[in-house]
Amino acid sequence: MPENFKPLQWTDELATGVDVIDKQHKMLINILNDANRCFRDRGDRELQKKVIDDLLSYTVYHFDTEEELMETSGLGDISPDDELKHIHEHRAFTGKAREYQSAVHDGNSIDYESVFSFLNGWLVNHVMGTDKKLGAFLNSK
Ligand SMILES: [Fe+2]
Repeated sequence: MPENFKPLQWTDELATGVDVIDKQHKMLINILNDANRCFRDRGDRELQKKVIDDLLSYTVYHFDTEEELMETSGLGDISPDDELKHIHEHRAFTGKAREYQSAVHDGNSIDYESVFSFLNGWLVNHVMGTDKKLGAFLNSK
């Protein structure tokens, strides 16, 4: 199995210390792993559409939760650059995922190894860096 299709595994290293965020990250990992498997196994087109749609809608829901927490905690007033950078990273993920979603829906072939290499890598890097920093800020309040 290519390296990129190794399922992501939740570990305590990924914990931000904020319950709602950690629960959603676990869910996101499951959904991303399902999507990885579907494309790896060349699931039929309808299933591919469903997994990419599910991935995107859960991601948007999750980003909304984090961005709401940034808003209510006053992060934007204290560290506007951190808030902007965080939101910018979220948009990079949804932008890329939407490109893939359109390709799947239009029936275009996609290089799914590079797709999931990007999405998996993004998730781990983002959680380990940006989200943990947000978690530390929220827990300091
Ligand atoms: Fe985030």
